[in-house]
Amino acid sequence: MGTITPSSRFLSKKMIRKIDFTKAAVIVEFGPGNGAITKHILKNLSPKAILICFEINDNFYHQLKALKHPQLIVVKASAEKIEEELKKINITKVNYVISSLPLTIIPDMISNEILRKSYQVLDCQGTFIQYQYSLTYYNTLKNVFRESISLDFQMLNLPPAFIYHCKKVG
Ligand SMILES: C[S@@+](CC[C@H](N)C(=O)[O-])C[C@H]1O[C@@H](n2cnc3c(N)ncnc32)[C@H](O)[C@@H]1O
Repeated sequence: MGTITPSSRFLSKKMIRKIDFTKAAVIVEFGPGNGAITKHILKNLSPKAILICFEINDNFYHQLKALKHPQLIVVKASAEKIEEELKKINITKVNYVISSLPLTIIPDMISNEILRKSYQVLDCQGTFIQYQYSLTYYNTLKNVFRESISLDFQMLNLPPAFIYHCKKVG
């Protein structure tokens, strides 16, 4: 899973703090796990919006399916398949990608592909939000999202986490 425990409710809330739920029609979540962040997103979704989760772990996939939430689509596929999987459900653009993928332990070729494809599917005002336990990934994110990255921090998590907000410009 890439961590010791699921995200705390403090981190989960901070991950979604900057989402404008009044405007977000399509949100993608990468690596929802047992749904620590997912549940907070679902609670705030506007009635016509949808959340599409990408999870590769069989157990987590079934746990999320069992929620049977009408606005939740759970896809059992790796995050770099985002474009083809969205195409299958006739979606080309998304407003937010919320990721808790363990990017630093995913092979570079795949993690770079995940970032590149995320950038491509975000609409022109879209944001990629990712937490990490250190700042080592900052430059990699900067290669894709350039200067439009802001940082947040949540102490109340095990371990404490940095939150990157990477806004697509133009
Ligand atoms: C650190 S856990 C985060 C779980 C939960 N979102 C949280 O914050 O507590 C990472 C999750 O990413 C999933 N994962 C890892 N690689 C993935 C990939 N390439 N595509 C989709 N999910 C992946 C793992 O199965 C795991 O559920």
